[in-house]
Parts: sequence; structure tokens; C-alpha cells
Amino acid sequence: MNAQVRIESLVKEYGTLRALNGISFHIQAGEWVALMGPSGSGKTTLINILGGLDTLTSGHAIVDGVDLAKLSENDLVRYRAEENWLRLSAVPPGAVPERHRERNAGPVLS
Ligand SMILES: Nc1ncnc2c1ncn2[C@@H]1O[C@H](COP(=O)(O)OP(=O)(O)OP(=O)(O)O)[C@@H](O)[C@H]1O
Ligand SMILES: [Mg+2]
Repeated sequence: MNAQVRIESLVKEYGTLRALNGISFHIQAGEWVALMGPSGSGKTTLINILGGLDTLTSGHAIVDGVDLAKLSENDLVRYRAEENWLRLSAVPPGAVPERHRERNAGPVLS
């Protein structure tokens, strides 16, 4: 089965700051993944790239066979309007323990 999300040697630089240093991993359809790391480790940067809100510097971020590295700005607008990202980020009711929801009112992955 093809992975729904394929991250390959992904690098994101903001000027001289390297926020993502060549990360690689795959997520299969239906798989549950928690993205964890200290503040500043690049979680939001990665989520923004997967959501088409930010571009990457090099490497590949492939969602449902679409390589985000190859999309133009107009393509990214269309990509954001599709439901890909909703399916990636949706957390069904009850999936997050009550005590976690109280302390973290925002989206689980950002
Ligand atoms: N738009 C930006 N311009 C410049 N640097 C940025 C930008 N966005 C993030 N960074 C830097 O990239 C690195 C990763 O930041 P990011 O926000 O992705 O981390 P995070 O893991 O989401 O942190 P937190 O847990 O605090 O939300 C940090 O050093 C941050 O200062
Ligand atoms: Mg963040």
C-alpha cells in the first residue's frame, strides 16, 4: 500500500535558520500519528508545509501522490481548497483525553 504522506529529506530554511533538517518518514492511510518535540523543533513548520500554507526549501512532501515541492502558488491555493488537509488533521470527538483538551485548547498538531 502506498503511504498517504511521504516526507523525504525535507529541509526548510528561514534565511539562515534551518527549521527542518532533512527529515524523512511515511504515514499510511488510516494510521494515527502524534507529532511531538520541544518548542522550536519544527512541528508547526512541518504542519504548515503539509497544509500548503508554507513552501519547503528542498526534499519532498508527498500527500496522496501530490508532491507539494512541485506545486505553483496557484496549485497550492487549489490544494488548500481540497479536503486533503482536513482528512489529515481531523481529530474525532473523544480521541483526545479531556485533561489534554483543557490544557491545550488549540489543534493537537500545531
Ligand atoms: N516564519 C518564520 N520565519 C522565521 N523563522 C521561523 C518562522 N517560523 C518558524 N521559524 C523558526 O523555525 C523553528 C521551528 O519553529 P516551529 O514554530 O515550527 O516550532 P514548533 O515545534 O512548532 O514550536 P512550538 O512547540 O513552540 O509551537 C524555530 O526556530 C522558529 O523560530
Ligand atoms: Mg508550533
